[in-house]
Amino acid sequence: MKYLSIKEAMNKGTGKVSIRGWVYRERGSNKLKFVVLRDSTGIIQCVIKKEKFSDEKFKEADKVQIEASMEISGTIKEDKRAPSGYEIEADEFTIVGMSDNFPLAADQNREFLDDNRHLTLRTRRMTAILKIRSTVFGALHEYFRQNGFYEYQSPIFQSVQCEGGSTLFKAEYFDRKDVFLAQTWQLYAEPAIFSLEKIYTMAPSFRAEKSRTSRHLTEYWHCEMEIAWSTFKDIQDVGEGAIKHVLKKVLEQNQEELNILERDPKKLEPSLKKPFARITYTEALKLLKEKCKMEVEWGKDLRTIEEDKLSSLFDTIIICRNYPKEVKAFYMMEDPEDPRTVQGCDFIAPEGYGELIGGSQREHDIEKLKKRLVEMGENPESYTFYLDTRKYGSVPHGGYGLGVERLISWICGLDNIKDAIPFPRTPMRYKP
Ligand code: 4AD
Ligand code: MG
Repeated sequence: MKYLSIKEAMNKGTGKVSIRGWVYRERGSNKLKFVVLRDSTGIIQCVIKKEKFSDEKFKEADKVQIEASMEISGTIKEDKRAPSGYEIEADEFTIVGMSDNFPLAADQNREFLDDNRHLTLRTRRMTAILKIRSTVFGALHEYFRQNGFYEYQSPIFQSVQCEGGSTLFKAEYFDRKDVFLAQTWQLYAEPAIFSLEKIYTMAPSFRAEKSRTSRHLTEYWHCEMEIAWSTFKDIQDVGEGAIKHVLKKVLEQNQEELNILERDPKKLEPSLKKPFARITYTEALKLLKEKCKMEVEWGKDLRTIEEDKLSSLFDTIIICRNYPKEVKAFYMMEDPEDPRTVQGCDFIAPEGYGELIGGSQREHDIEKLKKRLVEMGENPESYTFYLDTRKYGSVPHGGYGLGVERLISWICGLDNIKDAIPFPRTPMRYKP
């Protein structure tokens, strides 16, 4: 038996077809049973008529409940009244797996849905998000490979921190007390630019963020890149290029899914068609003061509420750069033209979706690096391997990290980042 996907069957449109999938809806009388079947490609109504089957077989059909799996063969035809415009009149059917009282229904609360995440994945909404997620991952790999980057992997068990001790997860590593889960690949990526020059990765990162927000996961997918011989502008250009490539692919391939999610593609288009807004931190403060009546003292980091206000002033992604040294990580390069600031940048998403990318040119002065490590309370000796990158043939270089679920959240217009990943991990949520 050759099975067609539901989409293929509808494209064929007439004649005999065999399909298989799961029961999306069902209703029946003593003469007819209607089953809307779904598979990964779509939904289609099937009608099982009593007159065509023995009493016993028809009773079987009557037992079919939501989410049972079935194979159905019959004649397909256009039917304007059917949910997807086609109907199959069944000649044969097999129930492959029964389903007994599938627990999900409309209007259930978030907690219940998260407890049943393994089942929620089957909903049309989650299926649409997962398809977009697949496009996003594919497009990122494609962008980097087309632009001469090698894919490279760093360890998840790490012996040093990079993005601040407060969000480090300690790992139980035999009897060791100084092993952490990766916050970023960065300190293990920089050594590799001396062999591969241009590298990228897609890997999980871990952050012990205690705050419960709609933007933070404790485990998220991090798309990071690092380039030898780069300028600070190169880092920003690659970030813009990669996101534009993702947007292009999603808009080409996922109109149907955006539609299911009721996401207006017009919200995404400006960031594809126009250059991203590029401003400095100091200009950002000026804009906040003049246009939003928000006063931020120079030297303070931008908070979520300020980033959100800033995003409302532009219809594209904003690249905000040259933050005060004190608010950024130890490895960021001091700007020779304004040494109060570093050559670091954040990409701020439109519509209040927050920071998508954090990147920078890397400091190559070994003494400055040591000084900043000590200021952070770190022991520079633990970083010997990293500091060696500045000892043997150091070159200007830089890179960034993109939070893939942040990007997916914005693209899909989600209320909560939890829906951008199959099994979300947050301080309260680590099951199933
Ligand atoms: O800005 P961050 O902390 O930068 C770094 O980790 C650098 N070492 C990256 C690099 O230069 N290679 O994190 C990068 C991005 C953020 O912009 C954000 O999109 C995402 O990672 N991110 C999170 N996403 C989901 N949940 C969290 N808790 C996140 N923390 C950071
Ligand atoms: Mg950041």
